[in-house]
Formats: sequence, structure tokens, C-alpha cells
Amino acid sequence: MKKTMLCLFALGVFFTQLQAQDQKMNAFVQALMSRMTLEEKIGQLNLITPGSDIPTGSVVSSNVEKKIAEGNVGGLFGVIGPDKVKQAQDIAVKQSRLKIPLLFGSDVIHGHKTTFPIPLGISCSWDTALIRYGASIAAKEATADGLNWVFSPMVDIARDPRWGRVAEGSGEDPFLGAQIAAAMVKGYQGNSLADKNTLLACVKHFALYGAAEGGRDYNSVDMSKIKMYNEYLPPYKAAVDAGVASVMSSFNDIDGVPATGNKWLLTDLLRTKWGFKGMVASDYTSIGEMVNHRQGDISQVSAQSLKAGLDMDMVTEGYLGTLKKSFQEKKIGMADIDRACRLVLEAKYKLGLFEDPYRYIDAERAAKEVLSESNRAVARKIAQESFVLLQNDYKTLPLKKSSSIALIGPLANDKNNMLGTWAVSGDPQKSIPVLDGMKNVGGASLKIQYAKGANITDDPNLARQSNVFGLRVEIDKRSPDEMLQEALAIARQSDVVVAVVGEATEMTGEAASRSDITIPASEVKLLKALYATGKPVVVVVMSGRPLVLTGAIEGAAAVLQTWHAGIEAGNAIADVLFGAVNPSGKLTMSFPYSVGQIPVYYSQKRTGRPIDANNKFSTKYLDAPNEALFPFGHGLSYTTFTYSDLKLSNTELTKGKKIEVEVTITNTGAMDGAEVVQLYTLDKIRSITPPEKELKGFQKIYLKAGESKRVLFTLTEEMLRFYNASLQYVSEPGEFTVMVGGNSKDVFSRDIVLK
Ligand code: NOJ
Repeated sequence: MKKTMLCLFALGVFFTQLQAQDQKMNAFVQALMSRMTLEEKIGQLNLITPGSDIPTGSVVSSNVEKKIAEGNVGGLFGVIGPDKVKQAQDIAVKQSRLKIPLLFGSDVIHGHKTTFPIPLGISCSWDTALIRYGASIAAKEATADGLNWVFSPMVDIARDPRWGRVAEGSGEDPFLGAQIAAAMVKGYQGNSLADKNTLLACVKHFALYGAAEGGRDYNSVDMSKIKMYNEYLPPYKAAVDAGVASVMSSFNDIDGVPATGNKWLLTDLLRTKWGFKGMVASDYTSIGEMVNHRQGDISQVSAQSLKAGLDMDMVTEGYLGTLKKSFQEKKIGMADIDRACRLVLEAKYKLGLFEDPYRYIDAERAAKEVLSESNRAVARKIAQESFVLLQNDYKTLPLKKSSSIALIGPLANDKNNMLGTWAVSGDPQKSIPVLDGMKNVGGASLKIQYAKGANITDDPNLARQSNVFGLRVEIDKRSPDEMLQEALAIARQSDVVVAVVGEATEMTGEAASRSDITIPASEVKLLKALYATGKPVVVVVMSGRPLVLTGAIEGAAAVLQTWHAGIEAGNAIADVLFGAVNPSGKLTMSFPYSVGQIPVYYSQKRTGRPIDANNKFSTKYLDAPNEALFPFGHGLSYTTFTYSDLKLSNTELTKGKKIEVEVTITNTGAMDGAEVVQLYTLDKIRSITPPEKELKGFQKIYLKAGESKRVLFTLTEEMLRFYNASLQYVSEPGEFTVMVGGNSKDVFSRDIVLK
């Protein structure tokens, strides 16, 4: 009782302090805005890039310095490093009339200069504490480099691996996606935005960008509200609930209205329903692109976006060029401009920029903290946890250090492809390729020979398109056959072959959709020739998406999916190959058996004619299985885990009560290891057709060889809720199945009744 009173008192003090802070901020911003001209207010809404770094559209901004001095810029991105940031901030606070400091944003997507694995890889760790810690390291580095805003996390649910941007998100599942979204926001923003090493996060791309038709980037999205609410919106909502400071609108349309100018999305849902209090920025030229969406001319789409609730215009400069006239013509009101301006100024206030515009510029800290040894160690750890062991026959892995190894493949010794897509500030030359990693971990006596064996692709067109940000696909001067013969010669001399194949980094990511997501033919040819030598072949797959591995891995003894693993890729891969680290990653996106199956995901519905191979009139393909090649949640270990003694504390659940679901996991192998224990449910009768399985919980546990642990999940009525046909968030009484397992396919189940 006494403790509760104390807690309530502390909470009361906390909220009173918060209110006082808010009042102070409101008064400050109000006073500042009362001195601002209409032009200066519109200037705050302008977010531009001088284009010195990677632009993601065909347009970059011009006359940037002059615009800053005239008060026509609210924030910049693509300006990185203490010197450059200082130069720009100097202009804003010394030359502009009101001396309002600038925001400095960047695409810090998976680490800043210490590049972590691509986000899809990170998600396969299922380790939200580590993910949060990784985001805090990224924030620490970015802020030391002058930045105060990251365009991350990207939380778009994606079930079509043809879409290149699946690399940037956390896969197919809304529950896991929501946990990761919240962890990242908290990692970036810390306890206070005003701290020197925290910054504004920006959840993107709001909304549904991951559902582009046919997996073609920037394509239209059309989705029922039921699917939207139940399967696609939860991660954005989780980011908002975690206090994310900003939101980026997406390129696609929703119900026929581009997200960037969609009032239902940006105001009714985001602000009114979800209570979001921060600012919304457009994506790169997405206001201007509404002209292409056939929504009207630039002044029409700019006014529409502002009124819809879009505060900052990224790169289009449609706000800067047209809002004043639209105001004079009464197409927009001062309240619209004031709302947007106030939110931008509030973000700056919360960062502490009005107290000290140079707060995030610290050359000394940058020199010490950016790309430090300890940050690289975190990158290595995250990479180790992101790898998924898809297959391991005859215990081929881990490798013995005494074996002679033929390391073969175009990605085996290739610094240019380690970092992954969207590594804006990463330096590929500082990355560790697999060959170096194997030598580092294997030691001086390691018997290893290397041959490239094949090009990533022999297709000059694909190579050209993959090389826009630098050389990623190098078509060798030697003929494919010459390379192959060299590889086969070293394979024959070795005990085991490690073949490193997959995609170049820019074959994934933005504007990198592929209709054929098999391993490129040049590499498949190499793999088949290696299998024919009769040597055990370990295939290491680097990619930014789940590839169709059918036809490429049938002769493999083991397959390790490593994604694009970041700056410490080679070391982390060697740690796992040699067994210094036992792999524990689990897939967060299903691996399709074939492209024609897409979308294939674990939470599919049963249909009226459930899958039945023996029934012609059942839902199925004639020429392919219906299931994924490797399902969501799958991932092997060098040890084995058995599940036993699944017990429920009750078989009846009532509102306000809980059921404890307990299961024993035993490490039955000879090596210590980690297992991700997954909890799923099925709503056996529902007013809208339910998915066959929905993830409701997970725990990553560490077990010594021979050790057993009891894992406990708590199930409540709230966890069984969903959005019904009227979009009410409800649970419906009746029977449910509770399932526990190490992947979405192999589960143990018990039935319960919700009263
Ligand atoms: C376009 C991308 O869609 C978005 O993710 C990114 O943050 C912006 N460009 C800025 O680079």
C-alpha cells in the first residue's frame, strides 16, 4: 500500500514536471512564431539536400546556402560530419534574421559509420534488447557527427521479396515488427531528446509501402481496412506509442489517395486516433510526385498535403514555392501553416537546439566514438545473431580449423558488398570480407585457398544497374570458364568447400525490385560444378531478401543465410562457421519455394477449400508446394532443442484474468546455444476469417549443453483481440488453439476457451 502510494506520488511529480516543460516549450515557440513572417514560417517547412551524398531521386536542391541565410530552410539532410554541419548551422544562426537553428537528418538505417547488418538481418536475431542497444550506438555515432534526426526505423510489413526494400524492414509479421519498431525508437531517442547522444527517430514509410503491387517499388497499394488494421499498421502504431518524434509519409497511395496528401491517414488516424504529437515529413519529392499521381498541379498538391497534416516537404520545395500564394487565395489557412511550423520548432526545441545549436557537433567525440573498436564489437555481435542456419546435413558445420578449406565465390573476398543497401555513411573499404574473417578467426595455421569462381552475375544490364553507387558487380576480365576451372582445382585439393554467393548489395534496397529472385545463373552454375566434385559444400548466402534457393542448394551440405552483414561481416561469418558462436537467428520472412508462390507467409488464412494434395478442388498449385521452402521462425543451431511438457495453468480464459503457458526446452546437443521460443494462437471461430497462426509472444533463451529451462508466457484476453469488420478492437468468446514451438510450422498445441 505504502509502495503504491509512493509510486503514485512519483508519477504525479513526473507528470507535473512534464506539464511544466510543455508549458515552457509552448510559450517559447509561441513567442518565436509571433515574430515570424509568413515566409519564415513556410521556410521552416522546407527540408532539402545539397546532394553531396546519395540522393534517392533525380532532383537535388540548389542555392542551399542562400536559402538558409534567407530563412527558407528548416532542415537539411545529406550533410554529415562536424565540419560540414557546423558550416551550415553557422549560416542559419548567424545570417538568418531569426537565427533559427537547422535540423540535420540522415538515413542512418543500420548503424551510422559502424554499419550493422541490414535491418531484415537484424530482425532475425529476435533480440529486442540488442536491437535497442544497436540503435543507441547508431544515435551516439550520428550525433557525434552532427546529426540530430535519423530516417529510421523503417517498419513496413513486407511479404513480397521481389520488393528490394524488404532489406530495410523487419519482415512479414506485425507482432514482431511492432516489438522491433518500439525497441528502435527507444534506442535512438533514449530518455531525453535533449541528451547529446540521442536524436529524433522517424518511423517510415507511413503507410503500407511494403504492399506495393507485384513487389515493384513505388507501385500502387490497394488493401482492405481489415488487413491494414490487423496486419500492416501495428508497427507504425507501436512506434507512435513508443514516443517516436517524427513520421515519414510513403510514396504509395492508400484507398486512391497518395499517403503524402492523405488526410484520413495523417490527421484522422495518426493524430486524432493515435494521438501522435510530433511532425510528419514527406518522403523524397513525394509531394511533387502527387502531380504524377494525377492529383493536380504543384500548388494544388502542396496545399492538399499541408491540409492533410504533412508538415515538412522533403526536396520538392512545393511548399516554399506555392504556399504563400495558396494562402493569399485562401486555399489554406494560417492555422495550417502554424500547425506545421509549430511542430518543426517544437522538434528543434526538444533537441535543445535553441539553447545550443551546436549541441550535436563535437569533433572530439566524433574522433573517439565513431567507428570505435567497441562499436565494431557490437556490429560483430549483432551480425552473429542475425545469421540463420537454414540447413546443416551430417553436421558439416561447424568447420574444423584443421580442415583444408576452399573458399570460393564472388562474394567471398569482396569488400564492396559487405555493408548492404542504405549504408549512406559506411565505408566499404573498412569492412571485413569473408576471406579475412576466416584468417582472423582460423589463425595462422589455417589451410585456406581462395578463388572467385564466377561473377555475381554475367548479365551486363543487371551489373550496370547494381553499380550506380560504386562498383558492386565486377564482371571479371577472365572468362566464366577460366574462373570456374580455377575454383574446381582448389575445391578438389581441399577437405571442404565454402561457397559464398548471393546478391550484390544494390540488387536490393530502394528502386531494386527483381522479378526473378533466384541466385543468379552464373553462381548456380558454379555451385552445381562444386557439388559435382563430391566435396562437402557449405553455401553461405548473402542477400537483401529471401531468395528462391530452389535449384541452387540441393547439393549443399549446409546453408547459412547471412544477409548483408555489415562492417564486421567476415569476422562474424567466420565466428559462426568455425563454431566459436552457435547460430541462433530465425527467419522473419518466409523463403518462397518459387517466385510464382509469392506472397507466401506463415499467417495465411485457411480458405474455404483448404490445402489438400489429394483433392483437385482445393487451394493449391499444380506445379509447386503451397508452403514456404523455409518458413517464418525457422533457423537451426549446432545443438538441438527439444520441447516438452507444455502446460496451461487453465483452459478457460476470462477478461482480466490470465493463462500461464509453460513449456520445457532442453538443449539435447553437445554445444551451448540460444533458442527463440515462439507462441502462436489460432482463433477457431471468428467473425472475420482469421489467419491460421498469429505470433503472440517470443523469448530468446540461452541454454548450456544438457540444460533445461521452463519458459513461461502469459496469455490474456487483450492478446486475442483483433479489428473486426467495424474496425473495433475486440476479442470474441470461443475456442482458441495455443501453440508453442521453435518455428511457425512445428508446434505443440493445446485448446482453450475464451469466456
Ligand atoms: C527516399 C526513401 O524512400 C526514404 O526511405 C529515405 O529516407 C529518403 N529517400 C531520404 O533519403
